[in-house]
Order: sequence, then C-alpha cells, then structure tokens
Amino acid sequence: MASRLLLVLALCVGCSPCIGREAAPTQPRVRCWASRYPIAVDCIWTLPASPLPTRPTSFIATYRLGVAAHGESRPCLQLTPEATSCTIPDVQMFSMVPYILNVTAVQPRGTSSSFVPFVPEHIIKPDPPEGVRLSPIPGQRLWVQWEPPRSWPFPETFSLKYWIRYKHHRSARFRQVGPIEATSFTLRALRPQAKYCIQVAAQDLTDYGEVSDWSLPATASMILDK
Ligand SMILES: *[C@@H]1O[C@H](CO)[C@@H](O)[C@H](O)[C@H]1NC(C)=O
Repeated sequence: MASRLLLVLALCVGCSPCIGREAAPTQPRVRCWASRYPIAVDCIWTLPASPLPTRPTSFIATYRLGVAAHGESRPCLQLTPEATSCTIPDVQMFSMVPYILNVTAVQPRGTSSSFVPFVPEHIIKPDPPEGVRLSPIPGQRLWVQWEPPRSWPFPETFSLKYWIRYKHHRSARFRQVGPIEATSFTLRALRPQAKYCIQVAAQDLTDYGEVSDWSLPATASMILDK
C-alpha cells in the first residue's frame, strides 16, 4: 500500500511539469468562531497541502443567511485577496436560519469551494480571561482576581461565567472550581508553603458555544501562617 502510494506520488511529481495538466486546488479547511459576539464572526482557513507545487492562491469569501440560493450574498471581509481569514461584521443574533460561508480558493489551474454553515450563538468561544492576579491571604487561602477578555465587547449585557483550575507544583492533576459568576474567587484549604499554578477560563453565561482556552498560568507561593 505504502509503496503503491509512493509510486503514485513519484509519477505525479515526475509528470506534472511536462504534461501541464494540473488538478484544481484542494478545498479550504475553514474554521469560524465568535470571540467578540455579537459584533463579528471571525473565520480562518488553510489549504491542505497538495503533492503539486503550490501556486499563488487568492480567496473569495462570501456569506449568506440561509441556504436559499437566491439569498443575498455578501463579502466576508478580507484584508487582501491572499489573506486566509475573514470577518463577518454585523452578526444577526438568534437567527432562525444558519449562516453559510463560502470560501473559494482561486488558482490558475482552477477553483475549489468550501461551505461552512453555522449559527453564531453555537460558535461562541471567548478569548481567555486576562490580568489574573493572586493574593495569598492568611488561613491558607488565595484570592484570585481576573478581568473578562478585552475582546468580549459587552460583558455587562452578555455576561460570562468562569472556571478556575489550580494545582500545587508537586501535583500532576488540576482541581477545578466553577462556574463562578464573578471576577474573583477565594481558594481555600491550600497547602502551606506550596507553590500553586492557577488558570482561569471564560464561558458564555447562558452556555452557548464553548469554554475559552485557559489563561496563561499564574503562580503564587503560599505564605506560612503563624
Ligand atoms: C461560492 O463562491 C464562488 C466565488 O464567488 C462562486 O463562484 C460560487 O458560485 C459560490 N457558490 C455558491 C453555492 O454560492
């Protein structure tokens, strides 16, 4: 099997320059998410590597609301035609029909399109919380404070809830607490003099979409109580 694949690859590599007949580009692999809901949806894509030499590729990214072919198609905003990302501004909240994004790779040898349906609420994924601050307090406690991600535009209207995970430096496993509907929390019953690693994640309060990635680890050493 492997040797047959190799042979096919060798044939392709050997022959394509002289024949000059080349395959259309592969379909873009597209991912969309809403880390700044409801202001915009951001999408990125890659073109899976093909065995043939890559050629200059530009992309046309458009979207429409709903599957009806006669629906109005609008540009998903790209900085340049070669950019591998685009932004859909003005997200319609709680739409009854999904958005359909059409990303078309354009190369001299042909075009290839990918279609991605999504409902903005379902692809909410906030960025991680920021500015995690740790203050050891007497009684083997640790006060953890943080801020919502700056990219989340309306934290007052679209509230976030949070999760904390923490472990001391000799432990292999994290413990997790949450959901927390505030931007601070006191961890209790920590080990004296241990060093702790703490991370915070954010999620839409109403459970739409996904939990954010964990924030960068913050560390604190517990003070010795007298
Ligand atoms: C997708 O976009 C390309 C480029 O604009 C266009 O030619 C093609 O018709 C579109 N496909 C659909 C199904 O809308």
